[in-house]
Amino acid sequence: MSETQSTTGPLSALRLDERLRDTRLFFTQALRTFHATGSIVPSSPALAHAMAEHVRVRPVSEEPLRIMEVGAGTGAITRGIAAAMRPGDTVDLVEANPEFAGHIERLLETDPVLAPIAPQATVHAMLVDEMGTDRTYDVIVSGLPFANFTVDTVRDILDYYFEVLRPGGYLSFYGYLYTKEVKAVIARREDYLRQARTSWLVQDRIDRYGIRSDKVFANVPPAFVHHLRKPEKSS
Ligand SMILES: C[S@@+](CC[C@H](N)C(=O)[O-])C[C@H]1O[C@@H](n2cnc3c(N)ncnc32)[C@H](O)[C@@H]1O
Repeated sequence: MSETQSTTGPLSALRLDERLRDTRLFFTQALRTFHATGSIVPSSPALAHAMAEHVRVRPVSEEPLRIMEVGAGTGAITRGIAAAMRPGDTVDLVEANPEFAGHIERLLETDPVLAPIAPQATVHAMLVDEMGTDRTYDVIVSGLPFANFTVDTVRDILDYYFEVLRPGGYLSFYGYLYTKEVKAVIARREDYLRQARTSWLVQDRIDRYGIRSDKVFANVPPAFVHHLRKPEKSS
């Protein structure tokens, strides 16, 4: 039996001043380092809800989940994960930008959605490739802006995810709709080609391991959420 939760409930309940505070911090950091931040505003509650699918939808009897969120930013997706977590679940929140990592630490003390999971959460203020392989996860939720990275970086990160995922574990990540089309018009040729190579690699992994993709229009910009599953047995 599966349990589902159909609304974005607690995520939409964020106060306007809290939303503005997060958006201001996100925007400031995006101006400073757009390459790593990848967007100018945090993800929407609808995208957070979609990204937390495999934390929320699981058999009632299942063991607690070990979860990793990569690129937690100002906690937009983290709130979706937190709202779906159950007692005993744990989550590692990985964030390379120290401003964002410090913000997440503070939210774990004060935020109405995040404070309840504080005892189950650990913030790692580091690059994901510094996390090491002496760990295993049931669910990985990645908010990294793959479209800004080189194909080698994305391959290393996806290989790492599949190394630390348990067999049968889930990886969820998102990409923005129409990025390739927009880049074809405005980007320099080298940047367009770099992104094309990255998206071919990502598409190859989706073709091999994808179990579902959903469009989320209620986000700026609209996004595609991809859910992949590591095979139970290595092929
Ligand atoms: C597109 S933002 C997503 C933020 C948030 N999850 C959201 O959806 O609003 C990408 C985030 O990944 C972080 N990031 C980028 N590269 C990273 C890396 N190699 N390891 C860990 N975090 C990284 C950035 O600092 C940024 O916070």
